[in-house]
This record gives sequence, C-alpha cells and structure tokens, in this order.
Amino acid sequence: MKIFLDTASLPEIVWAAGAGLIDGVTTNPSLLAQEDSETDPRDHLSEIARSVSGPVGAEVVAVDAEGMYREGRDLAKVADSIIVMVPMLEEGIVATRRLTSEGIRVCTTLIFTPAQALLAAKSGARYVSPFVGRLEDIGQDGVSVVAQTREIFMHYGLECELIAASVRTPLHFIGCARAGADAAAVPPAVLRNMLVHPLTDRGVDQFLHDWSKRIARSRAGV
Ligand code: G3P
Repeated sequence: MKIFLDTASLPEIVWAAGAGLIDGVTTNPSLLAQEDSETDPRDHLSEIARSVSGPVGAEVVAVDAEGMYREGRDLAKVADSIIVMVPMLEEGIVATRRLTSEGIRVCTTLIFTPAQALLAAKSGARYVSPFVGRLEDIGQDGVSVVAQTREIFMHYGLECELIAASVRTPLHFIGCARAGADAAAVPPAVLRNMLVHPLTDRGVDQFLHDWSKRIARSRAGV
C-alpha cells in the first residue's frame, strides 16, 4: 500500500521523503491553512512538489463546476505531479469530467459511501478518497466503506485507485491495508506513531545494557 503524507508541512514532508517512507503527499484547504500564510498557496504547493517524488494532492475551493474546472486547471499547472482534488458534489462530477477529458488527473475527495466512490470513478476520477475517521466520528464503519469500494472496483475492473483518508490511528492504517486500499493518506503524527513500539524500545535498552557488560568484562580481561 502506498503512503501519501497527509500534510502541507514542508519539514514533515522533507523528513518522511528523506526516510523513504512516503509515495506522495495529500493536502486540503484546512491543511494548507495551517501553514505559513505569507506564501501564495500555489508557491507552497510547488515547494511541496519539489520536496517529494510522487503525486501531490491539491484541492479546489470553488463549489460550482466552472469554478472547480478553472481552479483545477490552474492547480495542474503548478507541477506535473499535482493531482487535482475535487469534493464529491454534483458540480464536482461535472468539473471532473471536463478536467479528466483534458488529461488532468483528479482525485474525488470527501467520499463517504461506496456509491459515491463508484459514481466518482464513472466520472473519470483517477483516484477516490473515502474518509475513514470522519465516518467513525458519526458511528459508522469507515474501513468497511474502503473494503466495499475495493470489492466493487475489482468486480468491474475499474482502474481508479483508492486513497483511504482521515486515517487517524495505526488500526485505521492496517484495516485499510487489509481492505486493499491502494494508498492511505497518513498524517505525520500517525506515521511516527506507527514506527514505534514500547517493546522495541525495551529490547534496545536490554541489548545495550547486556552489551555494555560484555565490553566491561573484556576490558577487565575476564
Ligand atoms: O486527507 C483528508 C484528511 O486530512 C482529513 O482528516 O482527521 O480531518 O478527518 P481528518
């Protein structure tokens, strides 16, 4: 499963890309709004695209088809790696058809049902992004939406890729991987959380403790 770092933080992107942990980046208006407000968002996205090899998701903010189309075309010019993210709205479906007909890759985002995902794929979206955590916020099973969407896409041989988003815990991550998601949009904090385990830390401490005793013995000639 590919990992797209879900952030607009350049330091975090540089860290994760340098560690070889990520295959791309996803952003959204809220994540961009958390970053340096002095920079034109398109310049910030351009810097992100230069900092990672792989797709970079950038979302339109218009809610009408014409506005989404125009913004999508502008975003696609920022870098070749840009994936235009369009919310799952009726207007968004119309904009997606126009953008994809011009060869622009679209990810339909803010998806919450397999039906929305199928309609987005039919509109030509290259990616669909169901939001796992936000479904759980209202007591629904987000991972099952990923699994059902994957099942439907495989059944009909749809090439549209599934980026699981709103991944807030390692269990979300594993659940989406087991469900067959092509990628997960993972925030930096969740990625770091997945890297560590207290038993690993304890094991390293024990190894170093035992090794230091061994070195001490050899220095004492015993
Ligand atoms: O990529 C979408 C993601 O940023 C949303 O996450 O935790 O706000 O639902 P969250």
